[in-house]
Amino acid sequence: METASSSTSVAFGALETAEKLTAEQIEERANRLLEQLSLDEKIWMMDGDYPFWEGFPEMMGGGYAAHTWVAGEVPRLGIPGIRFADGPRGVVLKGATTFPVSMARGASWDTELEERVGDVIGRELRALGGNFFGGVCINLLRHPGWGRAQETYGEDTYHLGVFGEALTLGVQRHVMACVKHYALNSMENARFTIDVKVEPRALQEVYLAHFRRVVQAGVASVMSSYNSVNGEWAGQNPELLNDILKQDWGFDGFVMTDFMWGMRDAKKAALAGQDLEMPFQNLYNLGLKSLVEQGEVPLERVNDACRRLLRQQIRFGQGRNPQDYTPEVVGNAENRQLAREAAEKSIVLLKNEGAVLPLKDVRRMAVIGRLAEIPNTGDGGSSRTQPAYVVTPLQGLREALGHEAVTFDDGQDAERAANLAREADVAVVVVGFTHEDEGEYSPRKRDTRVLAILPEPTTPLAAQIVEALREGKPRPGQKGGFSPGGDRERLSLRPEDEALILKVVEANPRTVVVMMAGSAVITEAWRQQAPAIVMLWYPGMEGGRALADVLLGRVNPGGRLPCTFPVSTADLPFFDRQAEEITYDLWHGYRKFARDGATPAFPFGFGLSYTTFACANLRLSSDQIGSDGTLEVTVDLTNTGTVKGDEVVQLYISVPGSKIERAPQELKAFKRVTLEPGETRSVTLQLPGSELAYYDAASSWVVEPGEYEVSLARHAHDQAALKASFQVR
Ligand code: BGC
Repeated sequence: METASSSTSVAFGALETAEKLTAEQIEERANRLLEQLSLDEKIWMMDGDYPFWEGFPEMMGGGYAAHTWVAGEVPRLGIPGIRFADGPRGVVLKGATTFPVSMARGASWDTELEERVGDVIGRELRALGGNFFGGVCINLLRHPGWGRAQETYGEDTYHLGVFGEALTLGVQRHVMACVKHYALNSMENARFTIDVKVEPRALQEVYLAHFRRVVQAGVASVMSSYNSVNGEWAGQNPELLNDILKQDWGFDGFVMTDFMWGMRDAKKAALAGQDLEMPFQNLYNLGLKSLVEQGEVPLERVNDACRRLLRQQIRFGQGRNPQDYTPEVVGNAENRQLAREAAEKSIVLLKNEGAVLPLKDVRRMAVIGRLAEIPNTGDGGSSRTQPAYVVTPLQGLREALGHEAVTFDDGQDAERAANLAREADVAVVVVGFTHEDEGEYSPRKRDTRVLAILPEPTTPLAAQIVEALREGKPRPGQKGGFSPGGDRERLSLRPEDEALILKVVEANPRTVVVMMAGSAVITEAWRQQAPAIVMLWYPGMEGGRALADVLLGRVNPGGRLPCTFPVSTADLPFFDRQAEEITYDLWHGYRKFARDGATPAFPFGFGLSYTTFACANLRLSSDQIGSDGTLEVTVDLTNTGTVKGDEVVQLYISVPGSKIERAPQELKAFKRVTLEPGETRSVTLQLPGSELAYYDAASSWVVEPGEYEVSLARHAHDQAALKASFQVR
């Protein structure tokens, strides 16, 4: 068997075929292979191929991205096993293309673009020897302080679902995809210990509906989360795995644990529907065989898990031509161009008073702020990528304007920076966060419940690691690994960055503030003073060029916020990084703002353009539909300005006479449209009746008959939205 350090081969085994198979043929092959496997081999397939204490120091030392992580390779039968590499901002293996983070891509509101991103990710991964992409992260952004906010697409269930679906469809042209983290994993620091309480309605409508969409789109795998849900760990939670995922949604792929700490008890996990323990041999390896032999876990459960693993390996091995996956497909010019396009389409123009942007006639630009000159692509945990280069904002602007035209100050001394700004025609201040402020978090000291998963140390190094984890001391030999990250300490910028902005704006009224962050930022200390504000997010390896394109007007910004930017944390749901228990309900994001009558700084769906648009003539295909029908909603959209631009038409619904409390509005469809100046186009959105359903614990999904209101809006707080009513019979 391969070991942790030798698993870089591009061997997909006998399951890779040029031939295309029908679903029946795939099933037949899976069953045939299953019959040939011994019980030991079956259990071997159900966990990672690395002995725990061999793999653990490497993984914890940052080696997670050194090669693919293999599970269940059986050379005797040509079974390649699962060959995992992470994402989501690109494949984490060396040389792959680094895209903007998911939150940025969510701000593009362009699912066709997301599918193209997925296509590149899948193709690059297969060329790098992987067959399984772990980066379809669609956890809901309940609170913008969540450390891994950047790995997901935003705060809205519908928007998350269609983005997750698009990425999955693109990736799965080449390799298996895994959607994660199932479920209710919306906090970071407490992820290994928190119990999330949730009622059936909030669970189904708000926290699971997007997972269901991705499952129905055919995702190969689902990764269970670390946290506990209603008193049971998600990795061994029968309601989540057996009942909802496998039974109700008919999922025929495999479930796998989140890495190392995602399973607590082998028997419970097996019986709950957990198929694969990743990435090491641990609890299944120690206990599953005797549990089967003693009749505590039926053999059929083990067969079912293996059938699921085999089915997906066969499904994604068939119809392949190795010539499509040569090394040249990795990080090539075409893929980097797509990274640039994605970054351009992600940028959100938040404020542009006095039409500061696009910048014209720049002779001298002062670029200010430490983030302008460091590669800042986001999180330093499992999503950290290794691109060939990163174009910083400073580099992008210098390339565009000429080196001499752009001066730079890191902003450490605000007075000095202001002086530089004073001498320039325009100042660009780049501020925000890095992986030190937000990202994945790996606590040094482990909770006793977590430590209980560790197998007996087999080496002196292993014993030292256990001791270090117990005491919260640095681990021996630790190099690399996760940077601080975690849930954010604050939603506003650092006080010194806020002071810097104010100083520079005072020195030069033609100042653009560019923010880099993974989710919402509170901007109250300086929002009124700054004439122009641009949200750059973590924009990937080509981000600096994309920024220059937008600031100089070569590209007209068309991104829209995928999360609400609040004025104050008081308008957000309860969030405590250290909580041991928390309740998730129906209320967060724009739904909560609308219910509470609160006004955000920048609403969900908001973004400006260098042109203007007008919407008119809203019409419905019918004034009534059945719950299984589909309504077509059409509007005439005109670019009323003088430059080409993109608008995102957003469809929200409300149910004024509902018997139950519903969100005042909910996003149900959207479309990003490009229009030439003066062009008018009819834009049609589809609204399936099933999207109108709410969840009732007693009777499942219910589409209430009665009156519904549809709004076509430019964002969630658009007072000028066009509205029309229709009836559901
Ligand atoms: C993260 C997952 C990731 C896994 C493997 C875990 O710590 O939560 O998102 O896929 O590591 O890298």
